[in-house]
Amino acid sequence: MKFLITAGPTREPLDPARYLTNRSSGRMGYALAGAARHDGHDVVLISGPTALDVPPGVDFIHVETAQEMYDAVRDMLPGVDVAIMAAAVADYRPVAYSERKIKKDGDRMVLELERTPDILGSMRSVFGFTGTLIGFAAETNDVEDYARGKLERKQCNMVVANDVSRSDIGFDSRENEVALVFPDRVEYLEKDTKEHIAMHIIEHATIIRPQ
Ligand code: PMT
Repeated sequence: MKFLITAGPTREPLDPARYLTNRSSGRMGYALAGAARHDGHDVVLISGPTALDVPPGVDFIHVETAQEMYDAVRDMLPGVDVAIMAAAVADYRPVAYSERKIKKDGDRMVLELERTPDILGSMRSVFGFTGTLIGFAAETNDVEDYARGKLERKQCNMVVANDVSRSDIGFDSRENEVALVFPDRVEYLEKDTKEHIAMHIIEHATIIRPQ
């Protein structure tokens, strides 16, 4: 099967020296790419900036911004059977980019932000993707409820929900503990390395029938 996996944070530039980003290390997405490749699948990994090595045998596309990730996903989608969106895409970006470094001016500064394109939300409705679609939900409360909302709104086959209020799992940690939310049930994966969690997710991904 052919997998497309997104990973890592995006960086939304403000001026030549500054950008908005988040705490994603990319580990969860890279573990998924490695597990899928290990199982013999073709894998394209589309990732924001991380300090990680690309798993051997995986096709790799580096992006910086949410818009670049959106474009890369759209372009790489033909022929993909399973798409897994593990990236922590910035939800907002600065409205204006300043070609010059913004100078300190007063005690306060107001930054105007606008929404970035919703990549997961575009998969079915804009890109017409008909394969297996797996989203992630990074939440700090009511984790399963929010995940179920995403599953329905974005027409996913499964949403992997993790609690990002904890420092021992989720963002920038070696381990994770997740709930796999399906249309008809929820399965829980106990706290384990991201590599082991990834193996289970890939196993599920290969047996889901998309429609
Ligand atoms: O990278 P690590 O340090 O290993 O951390 C792993 C992780 C916490 C980043 C990962 O497990 C995770 O939860 N990834 C999703 C993070 C996220 O942005 O969640 P969200 O609930 O804000 O977004 C929901 C889904 O929409 C995600 O699949 C996300 O990739 C996608 N999305 C979000 C915004 C946007 N503009 N486009 C998107 O496609």
